[in-house]
Amino acid sequence: MLVIGASGSIGRHVVAQAFRAGFETRALVRDPSQASLFPDGTHVVVGDPSRADTLGDALAGATGIVFTQGTYRDEDAEQVNYRPVRAVLDALNIPARIALMTALGVTKPTPGHDWKRRGERLVRASGLPYTIVRPGWFDYNEPDEHRLVMLQGDRRWASDPSDGVVSRAQIAQVLLASLTSEAASGKTFELVAEQGRAQDDLDPLFTSLRADPNGTLDAVLDRDNMPFDREPSPVLADLEAVRRCP
Ligand SMILES: NC(=O)c1ccc[n+]([C@@H]2O[C@H](COP(=O)([O-])OP(=O)(O)OC[C@H]3O[C@@H](n4cnc5c(N)ncnc54)[C@H](OP(=O)(O)O)[C@@H]3O)[C@@H](O)[C@H]2O)c1
Repeated sequence: MLVIGASGSIGRHVVAQAFRAGFETRALVRDPSQASLFPDGTHVVVGDPSRADTLGDALAGATGIVFTQGTYRDEDAEQVNYRPVRAVLDALNIPARIALMTALGVTKPTPGHDWKRRGERLVRASGLPYTIVRPGWFDYNEPDEHRLVMLQGDRRWASDPSDGVVSRAQIAQVLLASLTSEAASGKTFELVAEQGRAQDDLDPLFTSLRADPNGTLDAVLDRDNMPFDREPSPVLADLEAVRRCP
């Protein structure tokens, strides 16, 4: 499996956990000196996730892809939150299972959120099996808050930790677990942790969720507040193009 955004705070957890779990793990980095961030034995591939022409080695034979890249800067949002999704789907030449991290609150309009949401739409449009994880605030959980809770509809819009919190390690765990769970396929959810013990088996949680309806580009229960007829034409063209994914 391939980790996009491998050098980031969630990506590093995904790589380490995947490696420990015995996945053949590839970490995509832009800067080769970042190889030292990963366990010995990790296959580090250098490329630019927003440029399909640099992704051949990274994607060769990859059957699972976890996206964890992201930015907080509105001015970089298209480049970081969206372009890598577009480029990877463009460069794929065999079907792959996708796990995409976006954010709790992604349907509350902001430039950063809107580009993440467009990335979600690309993944749904691709027709590939996917899971989209929208985590709450990273590592704001209290020491006794490890019981994972998966929500749908993205109704928590305070934009502060009262919306929900979850550890980085648990976000990585859920992204990885989704890759091999039939019950997680075609589902989008917000992820938070509440008081209680961590669950050993995530499948009951995945099973309890509603799947995104076939052929729709937004998540089940999401507000319908980003109409297609107001989307930029290059974004609509990207949606058309990814429908040709393998
Ligand atoms: N903090 C929270 O509580 C919270 C909660 C939910 C969601 N989020 C979302 O999480 C994201 C930040 O994640 P993080 O804290 O893990 O960030 P991070 O540690 O800064 O990692 C960001 C990752 O994105 C990559 N990246 C940055 N600019 C890029 C570019 N131009 N092209 C390709 N890749 C690029 C970085 O790669 P390089 O090393 O090559 O730069 C790095 O791998 C934000 O989008 C935020 O909205 C945060």
